[in-house]
Amino acid sequence: MEVIIRPDADEACTLVADLIAGEIRNNPKLVVGLATGRTMERVYSLLVKKYKKGHVDFAHVTTFNLDEYIGLALDHPNSFHAYMDDHLFRHVNIHSERTHIPNGEAKDLEGECLAYEETIRGCGGIDLQLLGIGQTGHIGFNEPISALRSRTRTKALTPQTLKQNAHLFDDPDAMPRRAITMGVGTILDSKRCVLLATGEKKAAIVAKAVEGPVTSMISASALQLHPRCTVVVDEEAAGCLENTEYYRWLFENEPEWERFRR
Ligand code: F6R
Repeated sequence: MEVIIRPDADEACTLVADLIAGEIRNNPKLVVGLATGRTMERVYSLLVKKYKKGHVDFAHVTTFNLDEYIGLALDHPNSFHAYMDDHLFRHVNIHSERTHIPNGEAKDLEGECLAYEETIRGCGGIDLQLLGIGQTGHIGFNEPISALRSRTRTKALTPQTLKQNAHLFDDPDAMPRRAITMGVGTILDSKRCVLLATGEKKAAIVAKAVEGPVTSMISASALQLHPRCTVVVDEEAAGCLENTEYYRWLFENEPEWERFRR
């Protein structure tokens, strides 16, 4: 794992957007795992800007989203389908048949989860998985005590996650209590992971995930087991980390980050 601390949220998002665009330029057929949420909005708007300037081409990119609410119409404004369309897909030249999001309206949810895993495998696995982190330490919607080897499945959301997201719904009671989510094991199978966290509200959980023990109580801590995981935080989200000097020293000495150094 490596931890990159940027001065503010904008610079953290810029680094992540640059990293994604760079990986797509290196491999135009990149298979990218996508996350939703407020943190990612800026990353997607930066990617759209890059696309409009001709700096990145999504024509051959394949995507798999981490999760979707169960029982919410796909065109409901709070569905992750709608989020992805609003923030990325309809602004770039990605082919809709190469974008995948779990169908939370499927009659056979178990079949949907198995088919999702199968489709990921059929595409050769995920090359680059983008992740946010929730207050419960979830990645995707892998809430506490998610098995570290779990695969795509249905999962009940915690009261804390409901509180975190309910205000986004016009009627907070309409927020679904369950979701389909890639499992922790599915995420760990990706070739590269990038977790982005910004703001002081994320500081305590980021420190537990990065510097605490690997535990199913904090799904993001499982990323310590991933062979290539980059955690990108702003100064606020880095606020509870203990070894920041070491992380900064590593950042200064890694050739990959040379162009981001001041
Ligand atoms: C959503 C997802 C979640 C979010 C997390 C952070 O697809 O995977 O794990 O990344 O809840 O959400 P924000 O960015 O809204 O704090």
